Amino acid sequence: MRVLLTGAAGFIGSHLAERLLADGHEVTGFDSFDSFLYDAATKERNVAALTGRPGFRLVRADLLDARLLRELCRGKDLVVHLAALAGVRPSIADPPRYARTNVEGTLNLFEACRSAGVHRVVFASSSSVYGARDAAAVPFREADPCISPASPYAATKRAGELLASTYRDLFGIGITSLRFFTVYGPRQRPEMAIHKFTRALAAGQPVTLFGDGTTARDYTFIDDIIDGTAAACARVAPGELAVYNLGGSRTTTLSRLVELIAGALGVTPRIDWQPEQPGDVPITFADVSRAARELGYAPKVPIEAGITRFVDWFRAQPGA
Ligand SMILES: NC(=O)c1ccc[n+]([C@@H]2O[C@H](COP(=O)([O-])OP(=O)(O)OC[C@H]3O[C@@H](n4cnc5c(N)ncnc54)[C@H](O)[C@@H]3O)[C@@H](O)[C@H]2O)c1
Repeated sequence: MRVLLTGAAGFIGSHLAERLLADGHEVTGFDSFDSFLYDAATKERNVAALTGRPGFRLVRADLLDARLLRELCRGKDLVVHLAALAGVRPSIADPPRYARTNVEGTLNLFEACRSAGVHRVVFASSSSVYGARDAAAVPFREADPCISPASPYAATKRAGELLASTYRDLFGIGITSLRFFTVYGPRQRPEMAIHKFTRALAAGQPVTLFGDGTTARDYTFIDDIIDGTAAACARVAPGELAVYNLGGSRTTTLSRLVELIAGALGVTPRIDWQPEQPGDVPITFADVSRAARELGYAPKVPIEAGITRFVDWFRAQPGA
């Protein structure tokens, strides 16, 4: 297939580009190398191994360039839309910026698909659309109402899902939304918790934790996310709307997470406790039975093994 992959220079996008190429697809990677969340140099490293590979082309541009998106969509069999501003806390600091990239940018891309006749789209949504639930309301199922996103980021992702529904109904574009649950592994975004904690602990610094350590997350290793996303790319069909949770389907508390990272590094953690942050939710936990049934999704990497693999990768980085 000829694939347009937005967000190709990012954490998940660079891994997905490798998988799509290995599976024999032609990939046009699209990315603005935006440096709001983290530096462009990291993204250059993410794509270094892709550049020059047969079947891969990189376009450095912004989702707000609607005309270019229309041009790039022409002749494509599939669009995979991962480009976005991610992150809950920074979205509270600058909601308009998130709305521009995640809502207007997504709308531009769906419009480009419509005008170019692309009928297959896979869209990266997020577990954050479920909002703040207490421990009795888990695991999260795709059919749960998602009407109280707890941050501007979560609201923009939900907006993307709603636009997907509209574009399917009006124009018959098949769109699959994947609700990723906290993804980690090699090349994880440097501002995400696992990466940040590893950096601090490796440098002998205290780790700043918000809350009391009991908040829990469903962490998903990057290889599992790529397996699920590749399966969604193969399955998405014109006219069909689908939503899948892609998670590890197991929760880990914040305190346990720090213990695991410290154990893998062989250090004793020092904690700087801080109050809970607005926008944070107490728990995320994916019911992945729909993805298992329809995509053959089966997460394989438990957090213990995944943290070891992440720490091994971290240690191999220059300057680590
Ligand atoms: N990593 C996670 O745990 C996680 C969880 C849930 C959902 N997601 C979603 O998955 C997708 C990929 O996440 P990631 O962790 O790889 O993030 P990332 O920031 O590493 O990748 C996103 C990429 O999008 C690009 N981008 C941002 N604004 C752009 C614009 N206006 N035009 C073109 N490109 C732009 C960035 O430069 C970046 O390379 C995002 O949509 C994110 O919201 C990620």
